Amino acid sequence: MYQLKGKTAVITGSGRSKGIGEAIAKRLANEGCDVVITDLGTPTGKNFSKDHVGTTSEMDSIVDEINKENKGKAFAYPCDVRKESQVKALVEAAVKKFGSLDILVNNAGVGYIMEPFTEFKEQSWDAVLDVNLKGAFLCSKHAAIQMITQGKGGSIINIASQAAKSGFPFAAAYTASKHGMVGLTRSNAIELGAHKIRVNAVCPNHITTGLGHWQNQFFSEKLGLDYDTYLQGIKDRNPLGRTGLVDDIAKAVAFLASEQAAYITGEAMNVSGGEEYH
Ligand SMILES: NC(=O)c1ccc[n+]([C@@H]2O[C@H](COP(=O)([O-])OP(=O)(O)OC[C@H]3O[C@@H](n4cnc5c(N)ncnc54)[C@H](O)[C@@H]3O)[C@@H](O)[C@H]2O)c1
Repeated sequence: MYQLKGKTAVITGSGRSKGIGEAIAKRLANEGCDVVITDLGTPTGKNFSKDHVGTTSEMDSIVDEINKENKGKAFAYPCDVRKESQVKALVEAAVKKFGSLDILVNNAGVGYIMEPFTEFKEQSWDAVLDVNLKGAFLCSKHAAIQMITQGKGGSIINIASQAAKSGFPFAAAYTASKHGMVGLTRSNAIELGAHKIRVNAVCPNHITTGLGHWQNQFFSEKLGLDYDTYLQGIKDRNPLGRTGLVDDIAKAVAFLASEQAAYITGEAMNVSGGEEYH
């Protein structure tokens, strides 16, 4: 539908089963795009435990599924988006394998570190900002260098959040990082437009991924509600009567990555069933 054959995409944080990144990678590969599945791969420490991190075995099975079922090809490359040397090597690996880099999706994110604001630890703040915002900066920088060298434009898509437009309690770092992502999107859209590199953000509302499930548990406990009652409340407040699906985001990304969105840049597109509208 969007004709991405011959293009290469890097999708960060795409190595976790049932995550938004996995759905984006599969959708782009369905459009004929070659994709790099990249994620941390190895859990490290309390903030990046196996409960939250895409592991190398998850990455490998996503790659296998794409190579069996989709039009585009995939390979796995572990990368910590907080480390510039690893990000630079990721871009080089993508180009070495597939010949170019045309689409970057900054999807890696930490949404499970939430604390009351007056107790928010410096270390927690850094953990969230380092992945969500600094990671997007580093990946965008090295993707842009490559895209400028290639001279045929490109598309950078930042997976922000409803928290890029509205505030959420206990989530000062997450909310600040996602608002920051929209600022990065707007600034880069202006600066990189001269090179025909379009930069947009997508802002999902709640989706029950691994991360979303953790948030449901956290907020239902805080509100003293059982899990299902809390989740039903989200659905009841939504104009379309449901929570988001990973495929809702994948569809928006495929559109923004394609020529159909050739005149769209600097946008922060809500994909929230009408829950967020500014
Ligand atoms: N699920 C939701 O409700 C929701 C809503 C709005 C926005 N988002 C955003 O969507 C994105 C994907 O979230 P998801 O719900 O699919 O969760 P997820 O946990 O499945 O995906 C996040 C991925 O980021 C990876 N990651 C974390 N730190 C990393 C690092 N240093 N380097 C590389 N990768 C790293 C994790 O390993 C994981 O695979 C995130 O940016 C999240 O903030 C999610």
